Amino acid sequence: MNNLIIVDNPLVKRDVSILRDKNTQPAEFRYALSRISFSLAIEISKNFELEEYEVETPLEKTKGYRLKYPVVLIPVLRAGLSMVDSFLKMIPEAKVGHIGLQRDERTLKPIDYYYKTPNNLDESITILLDPMLATGGSAVASFNYLKKNKAGKCILACLISAPEGIEKMNNEHPEILIYTAALDRKLNNNGYILPGLGDAGDRTFGTF
Ligand code: PRP
Ligand code: URA
Repeated sequence: MNNLIIVDNPLVKRDVSILRDKNTQPAEFRYALSRISFSLAIEISKNFELEEYEVETPLEKTKGYRLKYPVVLIPVLRAGLSMVDSFLKMIPEAKVGHIGLQRDERTLKPIDYYYKTPNNLDESITILLDPMLATGGSAVASFNYLKKNKAGKCILACLISAPEGIEKMNNEHPEILIYTAALDRKLNNNGYILPGLGDAGDRTFGTF
């Protein structure tokens, strides 16, 4: 699949293992999640275009570079929140919007409860932050909303993906690049990723 980029790095593999471990407590979970988010931010930014400008060092003028297009980060509440700080440390000029979605436990369909996004999406690179791509319902609903609001180039950054979610994204939003730290085996009957890490929101915030 040419819209899928698996971020394959020894430090990421170690941190995904920490996230998977059922004994990892929320503080350590959040820390590992934020470290992986740094790697995702670096990998995603490899394709950012630059524009040149003149910068004056204390000694002379030289060529400088800045990002050509603004970046918008959109964490999906709740679990996407833990990815924001790392991305903002690497891209401090980014704006941040929020999308609030919760899966219905029975139907597995996302229920939306909050939207707040900046208004320059058409000229920006929009990165959706959500650690889990399971059925793909939440990601597809988020990009439906973003496209309706004139988003231009969009990217999905996640930690763990299921083939079912990748396929749904391929069908509904085939042009969107998906960066993931791991591609897992499949979903179980309750829509949880196997082997996965359990419920990312609950493990991040200790709500179990
Ligand atoms: C989780 C996760 C994704 C969604 C993925 O959120 O953070 O948003 O499930 O599942 P999908 O691909 O099948 O839509 P959840 O709905 O559990 O909300 P929470 O982060 O508030 O716990
Ligand atoms: N949401 C999660 O948090 N975990 C899964 O495995 C699937 C959806």
